[in-house]
Amino acid sequence: MEQTEFPPLKNDFILKAAKGEPVERIPIWIMRQAGRYLPEFQEIRSKHDFFSVCQTPALASEVTLQPIKRFDLDASIIFSDILVIPQAMGLTVEMVPGTGPVLPQPIKDPTDLVRLVQPNVEKDLKYVGDAITLTRHKLEGKVPLIGFTGAAWTLMSYMIQGGGSSTMTKAREWLYKYPEDSHKLLQLITNVIIDYLVMQVKAGAQLLQVFESHSDFLNDELFENYSFKYLKEISEKVRQRLKEENIPEVPMIAFPKGATMNSLEILAKSKTYEVLGLDWTVDPIEARKRFGSDIVLQGNLDPCALYASEQEIIDRSRNMAMMFGKTRYIANLGHGIQPNTPIASVTALIKGIHSI
Ligand code: CP3
Repeated sequence: MEQTEFPPLKNDFILKAAKGEPVERIPIWIMRQAGRYLPEFQEIRSKHDFFSVCQTPALASEVTLQPIKRFDLDASIIFSDILVIPQAMGLTVEMVPGTGPVLPQPIKDPTDLVRLVQPNVEKDLKYVGDAITLTRHKLEGKVPLIGFTGAAWTLMSYMIQGGGSSTMTKAREWLYKYPEDSHKLLQLITNVIIDYLVMQVKAGAQLLQVFESHSDFLNDELFENYSFKYLKEISEKVRQRLKEENIPEVPMIAFPKGATMNSLEILAKSKTYEVLGLDWTVDPIEARKRFGSDIVLQGNLDPCALYASEQEIIDRSRNMAMMFGKTRYIANLGHGIQPNTPIASVTALIKGIHSI
């Protein structure tokens, strides 16, 4: 499906902001905007398990559109999960209610790497592409559609740790015990990520976000060696591949959650991504000072701030947006929205941002 066949875009604020162009209003989207805080999402989830929703384009598309129908958001993000890549590489991933993702047979040591397969992304992850294409049609040009992936270190850490963890010690052990095999694994994952992002753009994704959600486990040396190296390769190779195939480039967002200010600065100044996503611990004023004037910043209200009163949410979101400034800024939370967030809080957040 060619991009030119999609309905014309009516709201391009986020695309303009991502390119550093001035906007009439600050664009806002919310990480995990299609999620459990929405009763209509819960309704779908009561009938279908998590990965069935991801794998069924009609359901993934319906869920993607839920927050767009309800709120005045400026972007949609395709409903899926970062763990579809480990699945495509041959690992079992289960979504256990109350626990989160579980990989019952993680990669224990380098001899286990033979268990991984090199997927044919166009075939094995076709369902994501189909969901993207279908959603572009169903959006009728209302807002742009974001595609996404996990970055290599975050995916590697799930594959070794076997699930979420507050320390990720098994995965961090690998970086010191098996540095060469760690690079081997990161490279295998990176190759899949590149194919996956190119496929998403071909299917109709208009922006790409790369989630390095486990940056908080890495000091500056580890971040540079095991995260930044591959984030850079992802951005460079995706752009190169799109160019070779005569497909227009799309803006790219890196979200290295929990990265140190030094690591964020290296990433920002490398100019490998147009947009840098920030978690809620980063001060907006300090970020603008340190990361240079070229970079577009995204974020970063604490998801828990949505438990304040509606007036306080409006005040806080306005204040945040004024600190970041109206240009080169995309409003968002500093991480995914919490499952029991009040709907009225989301409306207040969007109202606050759009009042500037
Ligand atoms: O943002 C969106 O609306 C798009 C959908 C989306 C999901 N996961 C749906 C989801 C996106 C962009 C993701 C990315 C993702 N998945 C990340 C990166 C962002 C981040 O949070 O740092 C990570 C680390 C994962 C892995 C993952 N998936 C975890 C840790 C969990 C459990 C945590 C939780 O909130 O329970 C999931 C499950 C998940 N992915 C849910 C949703 C809506 C909730 C599970 C459910 O519906 O039962």
